[in-house]
Amino acid sequence: MNDEISKRRTFAIISHPDAGKTTLTEKLLLFGGAIQTAGAVKSNKIRKSTSSDFMDIERQRGISVATSVMGFDYNGLKINLLDTPGHKDFAEDTYRTLTAVDSVILVVDCVKGVEEQTEKLMQVCRMRSTPVIIFINKLDREGRDPFELLDELESKLSLKVRPLSWPIGMGSSFKGVYNLHTKSLYLFRPGGVTVAEDVLAIKGLDDPVLDEQLVEAAARLREDVELIETAGQPFSVEHYRAGDLAPVFFGSAVNNFGVKELLETFTEIAPAPGSRPTDVRIVSPEEKNFSGFVFKIHANLDPRHRDRIAFLRICSGRFERNAMYHHVRLDKNIRFSSPASFLGQRKSIIDEAFPGDVIGLYDTGNFKIGDTLTEGEVLQFQGIPSFSPEIFKELVNLDPSKSKQLAKGIEQLTDEGVAQLFTQQQGNRKIVGTVGELQFDVIQYRLEHEYNAKCRFHRMDVHKACWVTCDDPKALEDFCRYRAERIMTDKDGNLVYMAESSWIIKSLQDDYPAIRFHDTSEFKRQMQSEN
Ligand code: G4P
Repeated sequence: MNDEISKRRTFAIISHPDAGKTTLTEKLLLFGGAIQTAGAVKSNKIRKSTSSDFMDIERQRGISVATSVMGFDYNGLKINLLDTPGHKDFAEDTYRTLTAVDSVILVVDCVKGVEEQTEKLMQVCRMRSTPVIIFINKLDREGRDPFELLDELESKLSLKVRPLSWPIGMGSSFKGVYNLHTKSLYLFRPGGVTVAEDVLAIKGLDDPVLDEQLVEAAARLREDVELIETAGQPFSVEHYRAGDLAPVFFGSAVNNFGVKELLETFTEIAPAPGSRPTDVRIVSPEEKNFSGFVFKIHANLDPRHRDRIAFLRICSGRFERNAMYHHVRLDKNIRFSSPASFLGQRKSIIDEAFPGDVIGLYDTGNFKIGDTLTEGEVLQFQGIPSFSPEIFKELVNLDPSKSKQLAKGIEQLTDEGVAQLFTQQQGNRKIVGTVGELQFDVIQYRLEHEYNAKCRFHRMDVHKACWVTCDDPKALEDFCRYRAERIMTDKDGNLVYMAESSWIIKSLQDDYPAIRFHDTSEFKRQMQSEN
């Protein structure tokens, strides 16, 4: 069992759209032998269509089931790469996937630097102290100065970075990278794989081979490396694993340059599955009893079948097919006769799985995102917070004879995490919150096709949803009465205030000092750590 755990590396690749996540994923899978040809991973192609083409949405849903988990073996390790959607409107899905990994690789475009989505995704990683390796991509293009990029990474992502490789030139003058760790020189050949003869082991920076190969660029490299080694802090695996220090690699995914090096280092330093917090105690992967949580739910492509696939991350013990497991929220025991694992793009039924693995469970409506399965112990894994959506719209029923279908449909779609559902306390209006417009099209389409319910959305003026708590019931009651119209409950019955602006939140905080406003639904953990 310990051997199985120490072999697993479960991670995700994240980036702002277009930085090269899909390309890098594909190259890693090629190295891992999980796919044979480039172009096999197309799950993010939907983002390239500007209009919301429904067929594309459907196709995206179908494809992303197949690519949700991509397992491959490399250097004796079993690597699970969890896919995250390329489209920014599906960012919530990515946030949740980040709760199921042990580390991430962040891809940054060397021309664009740190972009909006990079910052948001890294915020989630920082909350969970997830170890990060950074891959600065597209070195074959004229990008920004590498030192400037490092500065930007540190300042915008509140993270310490340490380059493990260093680029020699950029764009048309890009010659390759110098590996600061192994002190080897990798020469760039566009379009190819780094082959053995392109890697030159050199005896330090004074080696004349450097001058032969790089000519004028050699002097600049020596200066740069000296600066990094004197000014920067040395690389430490412990600091990386604690999420405090991110090693940085430079390369070009489309040219397959720097990718193998990245993968080699990843397998050397990335953490094996670790312990995870629950509401009652820390669960360690070596424990005998099985436990895991659902971080993603996928609807069936065929609208005649409502069954879904729930993706479960195993946190401890050994999962066995046909064993009885306890669904903690429903207080109910369930047996799974056909749990699936994923190898490359093939899905197959498995008999057992270990911590770090992600398995697909067929579900007929038992699961919500965040649900925990155990061998009987009552505990709930933490770390799947809801963040405030960015767009809020009221759900308006267009066919009163179908109100039941509509209610059921929106309930199930929000269980899948397509959007967040808030119910107004006074008046029972239903508000749907998302991070992008595209979800409203998806919801409307799916309600109509899968639940036979017609709706429209009416935009609401909400700046942000704030989860509200208060130790004084009287003060809470006063606040709720005074602000009744904007008080909602989320799916779990927590109180949420729909704030008009950040100025209003501030002024309410002054007027109601006993009320606490939280940015995520995971306020319970925040409160615990405050105490
Ligand atoms: P994403 O998943 O992060 O959104 O990015 P994706 O891999 O789809 O890459 C976005 C675009 O950047 C693609 O071009 C891809 O070929 C290109 N790209 C990826 N890595 C590199 C690199 O190292 N150098 C250069 N110059 N380009 C790179 P596209 O034209 O949008 O799509 P495609 O038709 O090439 O697939």
